[in-house]
Order: sequence, then C-alpha cells, then structure tokens
Amino acid sequence: MRPKIFISKIIPVEVEKYISQHCEYEKWESEVPISRDSLLNKLESVEGLLTSGEKINEELLLSAPRLKIVSNMSVGYNNFDIVAMKERGVLGTHTPGILDGSVADLTFGLILSAARRIPEMDQQIREGGWKQGDDRKNFGLDVHGTKLGIIGMGRIGREVARRGKYGFNMDVLYHNRNRDTECEQTLGARFCSLNELLQESDVIVLLIPLTGETVNFIGENEFKQMKSTAIFINVSRGQTVDEDALIHTLASGGIYAAGLDVFHEEPLTSSGLTKLKNVVMTPHIGTATLKMRSDMAMLAAQNLVLALSGEKQNVVKEMHSESAIK
Ligand code: DGY
Repeated sequence: MRPKIFISKIIPVEVEKYISQHCEYEKWESEVPISRDSLLNKLESVEGLLTSGEKINEELLLSAPRLKIVSNMSVGYNNFDIVAMKERGVLGTHTPGILDGSVADLTFGLILSAARRIPEMDQQIREGGWKQGDDRKNFGLDVHGTKLGIIGMGRIGREVARRGKYGFNMDVLYHNRNRDTECEQTLGARFCSLNELLQESDVIVLLIPLTGETVNFIGENEFKQMKSTAIFINVSRGQTVDEDALIHTLASGGIYAAGLDVFHEEPLTSSGLTKLKNVVMTPHIGTATLKMRSDMAMLAAQNLVLALSGEKQNVVKEMHSESAIK
C-alpha cells in the first residue's frame, strides 16, 4: 500500500504530480494558512507531512502517531523540536543547497536599497516631492569598494561574498564557527573575530541559523560597536537580532540604515520599525521567486518520498546519526 501523506501548503502542479506517483495524499488548497486545529486533525493516519514553517512539537507529534517524516520546504528548520522528533523517531528534512543564489540576490537588493535609499526615493517621486535644484537631501552611501562583513559563512554567505567581491569590488571579512579556507583562497575573504567585524565593516550581513544559542545574537552591545555609517542586513531569522536594540540604534543614528527580510513576529504588523525611514523591509521573501519556490517544493517532495522508502536525503544535521526511520 502506498504511504499516506498530508501537504499543508499549496504546491506547484508538477510537484503534486510527482507526489501522486508515490503516495496517497490530501492537501490544503487555500491561500489562507491552515489552522492549527485543522492541521492536527489531518495527521491522524499520515506517515509524511510536506510543510513549511509549521511548529513540529510534542502537541503535533501526539496527533500524528504514524508520522515518520516531516519534510520542510525551506532550508531553515527552527520550526522543528528536534528533541521531541528524535524521541518519536520522526525524521526531519530540509532544502539546502539550491536556494543560496536567490537569498544572496535579495541580500544585495536590501544592501543597495538601504545604501541608496531606493524605497524612500521612489516614495518621494510618487508623492510629488521631486524638486529641481539641490539634491543633497537625496545623497546616500556607496556600496562598491567598501568592506563587507558576513556573520555566518555557509553556502548563502559564500554567494553573498562572491557577489560582493566580483560585483562590487568589496573586501570581505567573515566570522564563523569554523574557518572557510576555500573562501579565503578564492575570494580573499578574511576570517576575524566578531568584534573586529562589527567595528570594521561598512556592510554587515547576518546569516546565522536560529538555534537556542543564537537568540538575540546581535544586540545593544554589538550595535554599539558598529560604525555610524554601517548598514546592517538580516536575512536569517528575526529572533537572531534584539529588535528593540535595533530600533533604538536606527532611531538614534547609531548606524546608517538596516535592510530586513525577517522579524521577531511574522507577519509584521505594528512595530517601531515601520516608523523609521532608515530601514528597508521585505516580508520574508529571501527564496520567493517562482522558480526557486517550485524547485524547493520539488526537492522537499523528493526528500519525503525517499524517506518513506527507507532512504535518506537532506536530513537535518542534528539527525544525521539516526540510523533509520521507525
Ligand atoms: C528558508 O528556506 O529557510 C527561507 O527562509 C524560507 O523560509
């Protein structure tokens, strides 16, 4: 008998077709996200869940006694309670490796938007505020030839570094748990301490995953060390930054500007951030291109089908030592 799975997000037709060749499935078809209660109700007899962002915790696992695999359509997996999943022998997979270029592209969109104040300039024109004469009020900062500091040099970090080095002639500094000698050799990236990076960089890009240890990784103390002309970018997860400290830093001119794709609360509705001119925000769209989201859904579907057939691919690193699914 083919395994039964539940798909909690809308997926492209070709991905659904692939799934239909391997599994019995039920899917959530609305643009409105599935409620927690409805999701839990759908899980009683399923062995697989294809999802993104849903909290996979004790409560959900209790409602899904036959569950073997949760396949995330994202690289981030801070929605997984790893301990609870391991206890119940439920495997977690994600989609690393294919989305780095898309996130790096958006990172540079945010850097340029913040440095050259592009959204603010656009708004000025729309509101009829473009006047002949002195344009000093429109001045921004150069990006090319400046120092790019990357905190968290993984695959996405490397793509950001490559764009900085080759596209914008930037000097690349990085801080990471481990040295990346390939990046040092090919891009001339320089490994340094966090403090050195914060003090020297003109553009700081935060790319660390959210874990128990990285909550509020960048806070008041770190912002204080940045140059008053620094641009700070977060494209990882909102909780890695102390948002109140960031708001205070931006409002008091402690740094020049910020570009943010991720926030403590998502969707962001009311926040001090929305009142500031020197912040550019996007609604967590690092991977949101037609092609990339479709590729991610397909990879996640393949991860799920493989896991249900007893093979493994793209298992999250904390579960690498697990020998088999239950
Ligand atoms: C990811 O893949 O983790 C992106 O942030 C989209 O959720």
